[in-house]
Amino acid sequence: MAHGKWNLRPLLPVEVIDIVTLWHTYRVPIIITTFTILIIFRTILHLRVPRVKVSDTPPLSPKLPAEKEKAPLEEKFVAEKVPRRIVGGLKKRKSSEDEVVLACQNIQVIVFFSSLTTTTEKRAKVFADELAQSTKEFAKSTSAIFLEPQLLDLSYIDYDDYFITPPKADANTQYFYLLLIPTYNIDTVLDSFLEHLQETHNDFRIDTAPLSPLLGYSVFGFGDREGWPTEEEGFCSQARDVDKWLAKLTARKRAFPLGMGDSKVDAAERLREWMEGVEDVLGHIATTGGLGEGVIGSGDAVESDVEDLDDEEDEVLFEEQKVAQRKTKVQKKDVLNDVEDIGNTLNLTPADPSEPLELDFTTYNKKARSTPTPVIKEMVPKNSPTYNSLTKQGYSIVGSHSGVKICRWTKSALRGRGSCYKYSFYGIASHQCMETTPSLSCSNKCVFCWRHGTNPVGTTWRWKVDPPELIFDGVKAGHYQKIKMMRGVPGVRAERFAEAMRIRHCALSLVGEPIFYPHINEFTAMLHKEHISSFLVCNAQHPDQLRTLKPVTQLYVSIDASTRESLRKIDRPLHRDFWERFQECLQILREKRFQQRTVFRLTLVKGFNIEDEAEGYADLIEKSLPCFVEIKGVTYCGTSSSAGAGLTMQNVPFYEEVCAFVEALNASLSKRGLEYGIAAEHAHSCCILIASNRFKMEGKWHTRIDYEKFFQCLESGKSFTPEDYMGPETPEWATWGNGGFDPRDERVDRKGRPKILPGEAVGKVKVGKEDEAGE
Ligand SMILES: *[C@@H]1O[C@H](CO)[C@@H](O)[C@H](O)[C@H]1NC(C)=O
Repeated sequence: MAHGKWNLRPLLPVEVIDIVTLWHTYRVPIIITTFTILIIFRTILHLRVPRVKVSDTPPLSPKLPAEKEKAPLEEKFVAEKVPRRIVGGLKKRKSSEDEVVLACQNIQVIVFFSSLTTTTEKRAKVFADELAQSTKEFAKSTSAIFLEPQLLDLSYIDYDDYFITPPKADANTQYFYLLLIPTYNIDTVLDSFLEHLQETHNDFRIDTAPLSPLLGYSVFGFGDREGWPTEEEGFCSQARDVDKWLAKLTARKRAFPLGMGDSKVDAAERLREWMEGVEDVLGHIATTGGLGEGVIGSGDAVESDVEDLDDEEDEVLFEEQKVAQRKTKVQKKDVLNDVEDIGNTLNLTPADPSEPLELDFTTYNKKARSTPTPVIKEMVPKNSPTYNSLTKQGYSIVGSHSGVKICRWTKSALRGRGSCYKYSFYGIASHQCMETTPSLSCSNKCVFCWRHGTNPVGTTWRWKVDPPELIFDGVKAGHYQKIKMMRGVPGVRAERFAEAMRIRHCALSLVGEPIFYPHINEFTAMLHKEHISSFLVCNAQHPDQLRTLKPVTQLYVSIDASTRESLRKIDRPLHRDFWERFQECLQILREKRFQQRTVFRLTLVKGFNIEDEAEGYADLIEKSLPCFVEIKGVTYCGTSSSAGAGLTMQNVPFYEEVCAFVEALNASLSKRGLEYGIAAEHAHSCCILIASNRFKMEGKWHTRIDYEKFFQCLESGKSFTPEDYMGPETPEWATWGNGGFDPRDERVDRKGRPKILPGEAVGKVKVGKEDEAGE
């Protein structure tokens, strides 16, 4: 009689039996009907409301009035029913975007300023005049009409007219706010302005984002580094607060990063940069009617106090894991069919996909000469599982076999939060560095590789070849597009954003094997022609291609083990003669060491290649005499593909273990009379640099590169040596024993809180989840 206790009144036994009998008789149809109704309801909802995507080009054409009326109702309804995932580019509000599309004919830019000493006022006037000129230019090429920019002093306006809702002059006009904000340490109009913004946001009677109908906004701050040297100490603090509140009030319509300039030093230059960026965005609005695609970055209650990008990374990693898990489930069938099709045609399906394929395609190709020529396939065809998985991981696929991705250090540097070790060692600023590969295919399946077994592998090029021009233009476009998406992200600095719009370095080291691409020399020549430096990483499995490779700025060979057996275990190479190929590549590198900077890259994996291998590595260094040896602790991707290879967090060495290994290696090199020393370190990425004494002058290391000199040398047509483009002294903070964190950058932990300084507890750091970042 358990049913009885659910009713207020005790049921008579007969009644209970009746209900129970009824339920038992009809439960199946009842359950089925309920489910059907629910599913139909859900489907209807789904069909009626298109998914919100951040799109670059919302059409300017006005919508039908009927649609206009319907939209907000649905929006509300769905908002209640469907939990939202706030990830990356997903919009918080869509109604405002709809309005942009609906009525964008006249664009009114308002320049607000505050000025005690009239300095900002003068600047604002000049600024508004120049803006008027350039917006007139846009009007010529688009249908949008820019009204004469208005210049308003925050001291004389009624905030309620502009900062509760945008002005409602007429339905055809939309507003774009620019704010020029000086910094004061006394009570001024700015304090009441900030208070107004805060109150509006917190007023329960008002929508929390009443300014969302704005087309966008951007703030520029004037500061004084003499009084307030850093942001923590108050540099441009009021501009930063205004930016923060406007992000909330506009529901993340930051059109361009907050600009900041020092009134006594670089304000004019920074303002110009910022203005160019703002004009760019206005041009974009004029042609498309909206801010365009982008990570609309702020507006959350905790904005700028939280490393929200890292959350985004976590999300991505999470996706990767799912993909990887799915992959393993179908691995035998899927991976082999999809990307190792030749192996399949030969019916050589290895029992365990984690074992190296005992198959040499080179041999196969020769034997196969007599058979009819096979149809040439694309390496990564659109919408193939590989394509989808790589795009999910954040790659833009260019053509059919190249890819580009922006790494987390690029994002970090854009936000003034430090570059990867390549900055400490070689002077490469991460926000000006593009990571790309012209070949997504590789001939190894290294246990620590972050591509998670999703990209194609093979030992010879057997796919359609894209022309180098197509790849070059495509990867640049892909890179710039991804940078532009960072425009609205909180903390991105206008200055670094502007610098990032000019690629200066290219790391050919993403996934895959760049020298696999048949036109690799043409590709690097294109980089060099635009004065983009080239760091090329190869896996020491392709001696023929390595031999014919023309000089690059820095040529890497990945050295993942010192013996045949451990190399087989860790790289899981596809070539049967992998050890011979490896040895031959070392020899070639030795020959190249006076033509370009040659580098060994050692990735340490605990339990695989650290223990007792220092001597072995010293042998290899003796054989090849590279200019530099980079030693890096492996980073753990937490995917099943690495787990499948028996890799866990246990295999990630502590930084102090990496240090101990490097010291042992250094000692073992000097025992052999080889002139090397420990030059630099970047504890944050668990990376240490051993350098040849060729790069030491008067007791000081010169591991950095003079990039302009490199291009001069190349263009001279004469032969040159790495010493010819040796850069300035390695900065003190980057040298061995000092941690390697650029003191100009703000140190933050994953939650965006200030971090302990170098030296403290750094040895305890295990670098955990990390993507390809400065690998
Ligand atoms: C590396 O080895 C050289 C030569 O023995 C030695 O002078 C130097 O102190 C060593 N460096 C470190 C950091 O131990």
